[in-house]
Parts: sequence; C-alpha cells; structure tokens
Amino acid sequence: MAFTIAIDGPAAAGKGTVSKAVAAHFGFAHLDTGLLYRATGRRTLDGTAPVEAARALRASDLEAGDLRTPDVAQAASRVAAIPEVRQALVDFQRAFARRDGGAVLDGRDIGTVICPEAEVKLFVTASDAVRAERRFRELRDNGFDTTFEAVLADLQTRDTRDSARAAAPLKPAEDAVRIDTSQMSIDQAVASAIAEVDARLDG
Ligand code: CDP
Ligand code: CDP
Repeated sequence: MAFTIAIDGPAAAGKGTVSKAVAAHFGFAHLDTGLLYRATGRRTLDGTAPVEAARALRASDLEAGDLRTPDVAQAASRVAAIPEVRQALVDFQRAFARRDGGAVLDGRDIGTVICPEAEVKLFVTASDAVRAERRFRELRDNGFDTTFEAVLADLQTRDTRDSARAAAPLKPAEDAVRIDTSQMSIDQAVASAIAEVDARLDG
C-alpha cells in the first residue's frame, strides 16, 4: 500500500531531521529531495549545463560527501529555478512517493507539485535566526569555517529565490499543516509530526 508524507519548508527548518525520524517511526522509506538539486548543482560547478546535469543524475550521486556545503546549496537553488531541471527530476520523485510500504519526501514542492495527493502534508518552519543558528552549528561541527551572518545570508538568499521563482515555488500547500519549530526541540518537532500522521491514520 502507498502512503505519502510530504514535508516542505524553508532552508534548515528541520525538514530532514523530522522526515528521517518520522520515516523510521512508521517504517517508511525517506527521500531528501534537496539532494537531487544539490547533486545537480554540484555538477554545474564543474561546468556541466544544468539540464544535462539533472538528466545524468544517478542514485550514487546523492551519496557524494560534499553536497552539504553552502556553495553547493546556492548552486542547487539556482538550478532549481529552471523548469527543465525540475521536470527531469519529477518521475523519480513520484515513483518514490508511491512505492509500496509508505514514503516520506522532504523538499519545497512535495505537497504542491510532486505529490498533491499526499495523505499527509506538513510545512515545517522556524524563524530565520533560529534556522541560521542551527545550520551554523551544524556546519561548524562538521569543520566548516563560517559565521552566523554568512549562514543567515545564504538561507535568506535561497529562500527568496526559492519563493519568487515561477516553477514550483516554495510555499505551503493549501491543505498543509504548519509546524513552527522555533521553540521546539528535535524530539518535540518529531512528536508533533508523528501526531499529525497518527491523526490521519486513525481518521
Ligand atoms: O532539512 P532541513 O534543511 O530543513 O533541516 P535539518 O538539516 O533537518 O536541520 C538543520 C539543523 O537543525 C540540524 O543540525 C538539526 O539537528 C537541527 N534541528 C534542531 O536543532 N531542532 C529542531 N527542532 C530541528 C532541527
Ligand atoms: O537543507 P536545506 O533546507 O538548506 O536545503 P535543501 O533542502 O537541501 O535544498 C537545497 C535547494 O534545493 C533549495 O534551496 C531549493 O532551491 C532546492 N530544492 C527545490 O527547489 N525543491 C525541492 N523539492 C528541494 C530542494
């Protein structure tokens, strides 16, 4: 049986952390769709044309170690505004979403474009300052030499570009449940997401 949980939201809101935990809780598969755009963006840094980079993507590209850097994030957000790039990635995401056994996908347009029929749609957010602080700590803990201000600027530039683009912009689906994690621990954010899924399963 297919059951899709769509989790969207701005950069570093906690989508991935919540998605992973929700998927583990229900025994569902998880796809971080940001990795598709990051892997595509990374290829363009070597000079490959964006659409060609998206079409040539292989599952193994998503495991590359250098996808989490701010440079790659910016490249991802630039290629993500190109409709042909997004189009090249649709079938893979939809097949993943409707696989047997349940799936959690996180990104920007899962509830609006990729899986408008998803059984559960969440829009995970947090204030700009909280998101920047979390991503700053994460990067610093992984050995990146950066500052809170640089991380905040990266997130705001991407959020603005992602929200303003014509193709599948970042925005909550009309029927998405909003979870603001600004004041929540990871455990609290995960518990509130699981409660939304339980409510749908019980109803
Ligand atoms: O996937 P997304 O970019 O939305 O965010 P993430 O990578 O899941 O989370 C960004 C950082 O915030 C990670 O280091 C998480 O551990 C942390 N986080 C947190 O401190 N509190 C939460 N409620 C959620 C995430
Ligand atoms: O982890 P973080 O939230 O910082 O970024 P991400 O989810 O890995 O996404 C990187 C970039 O890919 C975003 O800034 C978007 O431009 C793009 N993206 C998208 O357009 N659609 C998606 N479904 C996922 C990511």
